[in-house]
Amino acid sequence: MASLCSDHSFKFLLILLALNSYINFSSAGRQIAPQTNTEFIRTSCTSTSYPKLCFESLSTHASLIQTSPQLLAHAALNVTLSSAKSTSAMMVTLSKSHGLQPREVEAMQDCVEELSDTIDELRKSISEMDQINGSNFGLMINDIQTWVSAALTDESTCSDGFGGKNMNGNVKTAVRTKIVTIAHLTSNALALVNNYASLHG
Ligand SMILES: *[C@@H]1O[C@H](CO)[C@@H](O)[C@H](O)[C@H]1NC(C)=O
Ligand SMILES: *[C@@H]1O[C@H](CO)[C@@H](O)[C@H](O)[C@H]1NC(C)=O
Repeated sequence: MASLCSDHSFKFLLILLALNSYINFSSAGRQIAPQTNTEFIRTSCTSTSYPKLCFESLSTHASLIQTSPQLLAHAALNVTLSSAKSTSAMMVTLSKSHGLQPREVEAMQDCVEELSDTIDELRKSISEMDQINGSNFGLMINDIQTWVSAALTDESTCSDGFGGKNMNGNVKTAVRTKIVTIAHLTSNALALVNNYASLHG
């Protein structure tokens, strides 16, 4: 029995060694992160609505995320927050630029308000993600799911404000493109949070 056991252990060790050299081989020449981390992100991203954006926005954080569903969800919230912050700053600048119609300025200011709610909701989510533990898991993940869903609603309200026919085409396109990206990042983050939540049954 004991020899059978150690025989198994030996095979396991061989497989580990083989895997290890495979990983070293396939990551040779890559500067980014071990293949397994990037593959984990690619696979997890297939459960989101925008897998390409998901992978592109998160693979640069592969070495931090490793193969942790919690860190993946956390990183997705981080990426969404920084995108919302930079878009908000851009819109504040845009709303002060000359040549905008009053209704465009107004839509822009409404959007900045919606984005500020989004930023607040993402910040709260990230803060709870940092505090999550075995005993508060259900409560905190529930908060996070609620806030990230609310952020998604705020973004679509902002985007709707730019839907009118009487908006300048260029401004409309520029703003909507940014907002759509944030909404897609948020949707992906929510999917990854839900995925992490489901692992705890
Ligand atoms: C999220 O952002 C915070 C603050 O910038 C950083 O300390 C943390 O490492 C990031 N976490 C992940 C998983 O990206
Ligand atoms: C879990 O986190 C809460 C704060 O959110 C803290 O009060 C509690 O002591 C922590 N529990 C464990 C088991 O770490």
